[in-house]
Amino acid sequence: MPLTVHPLANDAGFGVEIIGADLGHDKSDEVFGAIEDALHEHLVVVVRDQKLSPEQHIAFSRRFGVLADHVLSPYALPGHPEIYVVSNIIENGKPIGVADAGPKWHSDFCYRARPSRCSLLYALEVPVVDGEPRGDTHFSNTIAAYEALPEGTRKRIDSLKAVYGLMHSYEQRIKGGANLLPLTEEQKAKAPDVVHPVVRTHPYSGRRGIFACELNTSHVVGVSADESKAILDELYAQVAHPKFTYRHKWRTGDLLIWDNVATQHRANSKDYELPHRRRMHRTTVRGHAVF
Ligand code: OGA
Ligand code: MN
Repeated sequence: MPLTVHPLANDAGFGVEIIGADLGHDKSDEVFGAIEDALHEHLVVVVRDQKLSPEQHIAFSRRFGVLADHVLSPYALPGHPEIYVVSNIIENGKPIGVADAGPKWHSDFCYRARPSRCSLLYALEVPVVDGEPRGDTHFSNTIAAYEALPEGTRKRIDSLKAVYGLMHSYEQRIKGGANLLPLTEEQKAKAPDVVHPVVRTHPYSGRRGIFACELNTSHVVGVSADESKAILDELYAQVAHPKFTYRHKWRTGDLLIWDNVATQHRANSKDYELPHRRRMHRTTVRGHAVF
């Protein structure tokens, strides 16, 4: 069946919806190529109506590259370390996943030496309250956000570097009530802070986008604390501006693929609660070194 591709509604001109794919069974290069091209061009791709076993989800994700392992392994799917479970469900008194995967703007694994190229989040259960899906995910087109900055700001930030770390916000999130498990020393050692540019170049398109993010960037290197805060506050406000964002309303069966180089995203876990269940499976594809 031919794929149908529609743009997603937003002012930032990014994202497409694909209908008519069956990624669990169709292993053709044509279908994968069409989805990979759409990802490069549109940065967010929603493939609707999928029925994927964990094995099928992993096999499709591997076509994009090597899958990253998850530092926070308590939330890996048992038997499938490549899948990270995002869920508010409690089973036998234990959370089966992380309930809030990203309360602030971020891109996945930006705090690793080799950050992620793209993530593939598959919706198995979506909470619906009063007839409306809840737990929307917000995306920002960070190329559009960067290109719209005043020239002076762009010049100022173009060669700056910043420190990125998992721990930057992790303990804050636990204090705020997130159901994250405290990290062991071994887990922390797997995620040391790294230095990456504030603005990075997309390896496929050559376009530049804001990489510094609210969740994981701690400070700009080589400037005073006040100046670092002023720069980052300006960039975070730009990334969050509605002009550059798309809000995804989930449907069960959505496989949402996003580019982690040129988009940032944040979760919204505050507008639903049990007994309304949310259950998602995420794979995360390793990307290029940052430049
Ligand atoms: C993630 C994430 C957003 C959401 O899985 O990387 O940030 O809405 N999830 O669950
Ligand atoms: Mn995320």
